[in-house]
Amino acid sequence: MTGDESFSWHEAEKDLMSEIDTSIPHSARIWNYWMDGKDNYPVDREAGDQFAAIYPGIIDMARTSRYFIMRVVRYLAEEQGVRQFLDIGTGLPSHDNTHEVAQRVAPEARTVYVDNDPLVLAHAHALLTSKNTGGTDYIDADLHDPGSILEAARTKLDFTRPVALMLMGVLGHIRITEDDELVRSIVEPLKDALPAGSFLSLYDGTNTNPAYVEATRIYNEGGSVPYQLRSPAQLDRLLDGFESVPPGLVEIQLWRPEPSPFESPNQSDAWGGVAKKN
Ligand SMILES: C[S@@+](CC[C@H](N)C(=O)[O-])C[C@H]1O[C@@H](n2cnc3c(N)ncnc32)[C@H](O)[C@@H]1O
Repeated sequence: MTGDESFSWHEAEKDLMSEIDTSIPHSARIWNYWMDGKDNYPVDREAGDQFAAIYPGIIDMARTSRYFIMRVVRYLAEEQGVRQFLDIGTGLPSHDNTHEVAQRVAPEARTVYVDNDPLVLAHAHALLTSKNTGGTDYIDADLHDPGSILEAARTKLDFTRPVALMLMGVLGHIRITEDDELVRSIVEPLKDALPAGSFLSLYDGTNTNPAYVEATRIYNEGGSVPYQLRSPAQLDRLLDGFESVPPGLVEIQLWRPEPSPFESPNQSDAWGGVAKKN
């Protein structure tokens, strides 16, 4: 809380909502639409439908990715004993969010979410003030500025103990530059800041399907923050220096699969994995 008697969450939320631009599609809101959520606007649904008309696999991918995140968080909490999660590019609340999965395994688990979308921020405020979400926190920050993220995260997590850094479906928002220098200049300082025993987990859409590449190209012409598809090899490189957790970087439905409420696709153009810092 602020300690300021005159502070009103209602007013603060109104301020936050006034920053929401409903004239251009936003990644978090389209993703929410594809996951069958309610936190999206006509402009997002239109862009989402246009995308899915060219590449229908995106809807399965959005849902498959949710189960991938759940399996990763549960694996890290249950089998590796991780109790701290730094989830950058959080997205809008869905079912089985990182803090819920982690706290189901270990009620003391801490999760810090990071995103730069105003609607995600508004939801995070609502979530963190209305529900019993002890151990959960939020940083409004841009992944392009890893230094600021780390500065804030250090006040919320104990960086002398293992932290699971999560970059789930967000790296495509970092432009592909020559030799992928830009994304590495962001991911490496985050990796460097982690103590031994920590993990990096990531997944992202890949350039493995011409329809997906084409749908992304058209989407990027629509004025939204662009998304760029890397190759699996480019994603794998971001895990360099860490020890790969079997089965390594794979299509997300193949990462430690378990029964899920819907049939997993045979193929998905999103690759993900987990690696440990020794
Ligand atoms: C495709 S969604 C993925 C959401 C969630 N991680 C998941 O996998 O279901 C991408 C998220 O990254 C966020 N994002 C995009 N660019 C970002 C940036 N530069 N810094 C922080 N977050 C960003 C978006 O607002 C959105 O919530």
